Amino acid sequence: MTKKDYVLPSLNDARRRNREKSEKLDFSLDEKYHELGKNKKYCIVTHGCQANQRDSETIAGILDSMGYVSCDDEKTADLILINTCAVRQGAEEKVLGEIGALKRLKTYNPDLLIGICGCMAQEERTVKLILEKYRQVDLIFGTHNITSLPKLLYEIYTDKKRKVEVFSKMGEIVENVPVSRFMSHKAWVNIMYGCDKFCTYCIVPYTRGKERSRQKEDIINEINTLIRQGYKEVCLLGQNVNAYGKDLNQDYTFGNLLNDVALTGIPRIRFMTSHPWDFDDTMIEAIKNNSNIMPYIHLPIQSGNTGILKKMNRRYTREEYFELYDKLKRELPDFAFTTDIIVGFPNESDEAFEDTLSAVDHCEYDNAFTFIYSRREGTPAALMEDLTDHRVKEERLQRLNEKVAYYANKNNQRFKDQIVEVLVDGISKRNSSVYSGYTPENKLVNFTGENIHAGDIVKVKITEVLSFSLNGVLAE
Ligand code: SAH
Ligand code: SF4
Ligand code: F3S
Repeated sequence: MTKKDYVLPSLNDARRRNREKSEKLDFSLDEKYHELGKNKKYCIVTHGCQANQRDSETIAGILDSMGYVSCDDEKTADLILINTCAVRQGAEEKVLGEIGALKRLKTYNPDLLIGICGCMAQEERTVKLILEKYRQVDLIFGTHNITSLPKLLYEIYTDKKRKVEVFSKMGEIVENVPVSRFMSHKAWVNIMYGCDKFCTYCIVPYTRGKERSRQKEDIINEINTLIRQGYKEVCLLGQNVNAYGKDLNQDYTFGNLLNDVALTGIPRIRFMTSHPWDFDDTMIEAIKNNSNIMPYIHLPIQSGNTGILKKMNRRYTREEYFELYDKLKRELPDFAFTTDIIVGFPNESDEAFEDTLSAVDHCEYDNAFTFIYSRREGTPAALMEDLTDHRVKEERLQRLNEKVAYYANKNNQRFKDQIVEVLVDGISKRNSSVYSGYTPENKLVNFTGENIHAGDIVKVKITEVLSFSLNGVLAE
């Protein structure tokens, strides 16, 4: 093993930020990699958020263009890549368990290559752990190193040595990278990468680099291509979509982009995630004025207590959040609203937690994604003393979830006996005579019907309302 085979991540470098515009690069695949994957199968396992889903589609695109063929079965694969998430301890443990289980496959297929990428690969301590304890891993590459994959595989096939390439730089933007999307009717479209918000509990700013926006033209071109390919829905992705464009030094904001994306005519537009910070009036106007922007907003609150919000570095108070939320409810009355909530942030008191419960009462969310705080090494919150018993946190989560389910159910009642439009995903996972899809409000609908295909937009009559889904029958 020579040193040059390892480029390791550095937490210190990952913390850096500058105001310089990010470099834009063009991807091209060197001729010598074109046939590298011939007669080889790959399998990608994806954890984490939509950013990772989209990255896996890029990785698949690169591998496809190298002649590899995708497969679902790890047992028959020649290359297994695990695209990891580092946002909570639980997510990491799951991946480490998975890598452990893969070791066995190498006894059947000694030529099998196992690679780890994604956000865990960006963590200094995780990479050290994998290098020491998980000898079955042949390749580790970071979120900034996806386009190095052909080179890394070429080198492994040539010298049979383990490779690690994880840059902790702020990041660039690479365009024209091949993509093999996993769905043919809904597409993830990155509008920006990285995060500069540095919420004190969160690892993402360290694993994804600084906020950097793609050029408007590149985004619109991508969406126009998707329309030509028959896509019905795009979800514009960014850790903070409202920060779109701020790094480009142009007078062109997320609100402007929403208007231009709406003009493409794609039937359904969604976006993830909008931070309460910087949710400005141009955004609200664009959402209001374009009927193909779906009536659904995810607005993470994280906590309903101003003291905890301050310790989280969320940049808003309980009252400021309510002010924005109430305004959105007023301006966009038929919209569905969801949120993210963390319980058990270091030394969250009973009173602070009660504030979170009462915030849910105030907002009456359609749904909430709730988490117990997970300590992430390298983040500021990891240094905060935390004396709260884990059992107390679990009880809080349960109380919170009960409340969330109550309002989810209450909100869903408005759909009883209504006709809704559903973009069909396909046959339901649970029952093969049942189809499933989503309403504009992002409500999951399971329904019966005939001769329906993924990508169809159909009318469904809702017959039964559950807390987290709706049941119905095809209406025409
Ligand atoms: N950029 C998005 C969130 C990305 S992470 C935003 O700001 O809304 C998704 C969710 O995971 C967060 O909203 C938060 O609720 C949760 N999360 C992030 N770090 C966490 C941690 N250390 N422990 C528990 N939950 C966490
Ligand atoms: Fe994490 Fe906060 Fe950035 Fe969201 S905004 S990714 S929670 S640091
Ligand atoms: Fe996880 Fe990375 Fe997304 S930590 S939530 S996969 S940005």
